[in-house]
Amino acid sequence: MITTRMPDPLTRNVAAAVRIDDLHACLTDPIMTAMNQLNEVAERYPDALSFAAGRPIEEPFDVEDVHTALRLFCEYLNHERGWNRDQVRHAMFQYGPTRGIICDLVARALRDDDGIDVDESSIVITVGCQEAMFLMLRALRRDERDVVLAVSPTYIGLTGAAGLVDLPVLPVRSDATGIDLRDLDAQVAAARRQGLRPRALYVVPTFANPTGVTIDLPTRRRLLEAAAALDLYVLEDDPYGVFGDTEDRLPALKALDTARRVVYLGSFAKTALPGARVGFIVADQVVEHTDGSRAALADELSKIKSMVTVNTSPITQAVIAGYLLRHNFRLSAANRAVAATYTLRRRRLIAGLERRFGRQSGTAEISWNVPSGGFFCVLTLPFRADDRLLAHSARRYGVLWTPMSHFYPPGTVSHQMRLSFSGVTEEEIDRGLDRLADLIAEQMSRRKPGNHHPAAIHRRPQWTNASLGDDYE
Ligand SMILES: Cc1ncc(COP(=O)(O)O)c(C=O)c1O
Repeated sequence: MITTRMPDPLTRNVAAAVRIDDLHACLTDPIMTAMNQLNEVAERYPDALSFAAGRPIEEPFDVEDVHTALRLFCEYLNHERGWNRDQVRHAMFQYGPTRGIICDLVARALRDDDGIDVDESSIVITVGCQEAMFLMLRALRRDERDVVLAVSPTYIGLTGAAGLVDLPVLPVRSDATGIDLRDLDAQVAAARRQGLRPRALYVVPTFANPTGVTIDLPTRRRLLEAAAALDLYVLEDDPYGVFGDTEDRLPALKALDTARRVVYLGSFAKTALPGARVGFIVADQVVEHTDGSRAALADELSKIKSMVTVNTSPITQAVIAGYLLRHNFRLSAANRAVAATYTLRRRRLIAGLERRFGRQSGTAEISWNVPSGGFFCVLTLPFRADDRLLAHSARRYGVLWTPMSHFYPPGTVSHQMRLSFSGVTEEEIDRGLDRLADLIAEQMSRRKPGNHHPAAIHRRPQWTNASLGDDYE
């Protein structure tokens, strides 16, 4: 277990200590500490090769692009919206409208690039997709009967945000089609029998985090039918959809949604830049008020936003708008070269796994899935792959990965690792896999006494001068 050392002034000031039990329960939820722990391991072993971070490639980022984007957006405000210099200055530097100042441009990108036709009034620009999740979950949680469902394993950001608003997340099994719809039925029925109120299903339909799995087209249609039959909203999160092997993309659930069941959670973190912290939510559902009046769900969500982040920074909105303008609203095309790099990296990883552990998707003992895009795949092992093993892996072998247990309900024992290939070069992938192979050989040899793997047991790791003192052993 990794603990954080307290700064001295805090430890001395015992009188001011607050009991953790007196703070919100989310603070003791393992999910909430997971991200910090994983980051801490990465910080403690900066020389380690990382299959852990699901980050976009950094090399194409250029500070000059930010200047260009800002200028393009200011010109757009001037030429297209007819704003004068003072109005532009006001828009860029002042507090702004809670719903954001680039909703029209995002609506155009959704239409031109993603086949999603929605009015700009149904969009709220958020501080990343993370805030979009929070706003929607906050709105859905009326009382303790409310629950959401999520395809399991689930992106940690959703589970964490649900914890902030006391909204339990019920797992729904995934299968080869990406979601087991019979299990969805069963979970909803079971929840209702217990007096619970299932409100929505969260899903990452394309190249999911953490599995890389994609829901096929027939299943997308059946999922929408199921959501209607079960009276659920679908929370669609699709940050990786453009990173496939080809330009052909499956339609977003929102593009197939004729009944306004789908709330679309948008991110520019992978298609533009994560540092801008700009995302959005499309909520074109109608909300009925008790006095008979009606409003767009987006307007209700913006009320919540006004008390959380007030408004998304106009300057970073302007940067994203500039990216959209520069690429003619088609970030998928703008990302083709980067997507090709991710494809090469993924293929290198899969080929490397095959070379080290068996052909195709592995053996009965060690196996992996083979996604056709995105940032992640999952390696399944015959031993537990938990935080302790990760710490050992970092310390002794200099390689990082993410224990899949973090994407399952707390307490789940998992034999799986999430391997992210987006941020590692092909050469690093080879070296990282060598290290991983040594770790795996070591663990396998421990399982089977007498079956020692010389490379793992006897060789001092080459990558570090760190002491071999190792509390895992
Ligand atoms: C499934 C999923 N949703 C959303 C995000 C990005 O969220 P944000 O836009 O807040 O960076 C990520 C990033 O890791 C993700 O994996």
